[in-house]
Amino acid sequence: MALELLLLFALGIISLLLFSRRALSHTHRVQHLLPPSPFALPIIGHFHLLGPLIHRSFQALSFRFGPIFSLRLGSVPCIVVTSPKLAKEFLKTHELSFVSRVQSAAIKRITYYSSLAFSPYGPYWKFIKKVTVNELLSSRSVSKFHSIRADEYSRLLRLLAERAKSCLAVNLSEELPRLCHNIIGQMMLGKYSTAASSSTERAEEARLVVREATRIFGELNLCDFNMVWKKLDLQGFGKRIEDTHLKFDELVEKVVMEREQLRIENNVQKTNGGEEKDEEVKDFLSILLDMLEDESGESVEVGFSRVHIKALITDLFTASTDTTAIAMEWALAELINHPAVLEKAREEIDRVVGNGRIVEESDGPNLPYIQAIIKETFRLHPPVPMVTRISVEDCKVGEYVIPTNTILFVNNWAIGRDSKNWEKPLDFWPERFLEGGDQTSGMDVRGQHFQFLPFGSGRRICPGINLTMKMVPSLVGAMIQCFDWKVIPSKKMNNIDGVVEMDERPGLTTPRAHDLVCFPVARFNLLNILKP
Ligand SMILES: *[C@@H]1O[C@H](CO)[C@@H](O)[C@H](O)[C@H]1NC(C)=O
Ligand SMILES: *[C@@H]1O[C@H](CO)[C@@H](O)[C@H](O)[C@H]1NC(C)=O
Repeated sequence: MALELLLLFALGIISLLLFSRRALSHTHRVQHLLPPSPFALPIIGHFHLLGPLIHRSFQALSFRFGPIFSLRLGSVPCIVVTSPKLAKEFLKTHELSFVSRVQSAAIKRITYYSSLAFSPYGPYWKFIKKVTVNELLSSRSVSKFHSIRADEYSRLLRLLAERAKSCLAVNLSEELPRLCHNIIGQMMLGKYSTAASSSTERAEEARLVVREATRIFGELNLCDFNMVWKKLDLQGFGKRIEDTHLKFDELVEKVVMEREQLRIENNVQKTNGGEEKDEEVKDFLSILLDMLEDESGESVEVGFSRVHIKALITDLFTASTDTTAIAMEWALAELINHPAVLEKAREEIDRVVGNGRIVEESDGPNLPYIQAIIKETFRLHPPVPMVTRISVEDCKVGEYVIPTNTILFVNNWAIGRDSKNWEKPLDFWPERFLEGGDQTSGMDVRGQHFQFLPFGSGRRICPGINLTMKMVPSLVGAMIQCFDWKVIPSKKMNNIDGVVEMDERPGLTTPRAHDLVCFPVARFNLLNILKP
């Protein structure tokens, strides 16, 4: 941190020397009425107030300045909101003024300036969102790809059973992202994409690139906040972004090219009167390539191109893998630390599923306590700690007038831990979401309850919500149905007396600071039940 401060200071001086006149005249021109703000330093604004976990720094500031305050990061104005009422005001009442998302230099480059998660609100974004939801994430598509997920769940459970048998530990911070990566990869690129051994290698390579990309997305790149800093790039982001982009592009290009080749071969076979390949389940990539060939549809109007296909694949990989895996990790860690909750969850599984088979996705709706556990996990560890938007027009909200291009942060994480919104906010207490609980009992994850926005809200709610809410409860359910979990006592990982440490690491998705490495202990002979 000391180094970062020094860096900021140096940047401040340099920009001051170069641009002081312009900067001053600029601040005098602004006529807007912004919420209260802490004392700002010249040029760097409020950067010096931010620690590595930004949602925590914002929470601390909200204790001093209230549920709405403004900051200036470099030359970028920001407002931070920390109450459900204001969250609703900005995300619902004034949704269309704050409908675009902030794109950092890293996100732009790595997603070919065409990200679904981050693109400005407009025809292109609407088009790819519709395609992604219809062909990949709608209930129909999610069911269509069911067998891919079932196979991956079995694969993981078998691995765990084998580890249990030989008393070996398992690194869940490695296996859960791998599972999610394989699932989303096969849903997008087809089953055979991971069948051959060279493909396994490629999947592994892709996983590492995805990891690096999400890491870069999560870091604060000072270049995003001031034109002069961008030229200097003292943190060396430019090169890392470029390297990651090139690696990603090489992988995705290969996948798309091979598929195009295959399609040509299949077409030749067809015209030669050959048997048509049985199209089992059409994956996302095939559907996208079909659209590209179709010269009449909406895809033409928005200028849908081959680069956009690569962008979507890259984007969906980075948006899905980490978030889902991290949610599962947090849920398991909380369960390990709360044995009474774990016991109660198992009773529910025994009652609903019995002991003749393993929890499946279709059990989800019949397991309200498990659902409550997942919600409670999302409350304390929201996959997206802050809903981040940028204003697309000047906007009057209450007594304030907020200029165009102001970044809005809704601090989900802090709202989820505020005693004004939640009883015993720091306790892990899933019962709060059950029938007969307090006013939070019927609350769902769909962005209608502004004290609880794990997937965001409104038009820009995470489109993967239904898939996630199918995967997470069933897999976490299966993992506690089949295994007891013993934590390795470790100073390095901070696990003392069988309790898992719950520190966070900086990132776009609040990952765990320490890897979750545990011994699975089989509760029954799983290897007999799982089909080989
Ligand atoms: C998720 O499911 C709900 C209800 O089943 C549905 O109304 C909603 O449109 C779905 N969302 C997406 C993004 O598919
Ligand atoms: C667990 O897996 C992660 C991701 O592959 C790796 O970075 C980490 O070093 C592993 N941790 C342990 C303790 O093996």
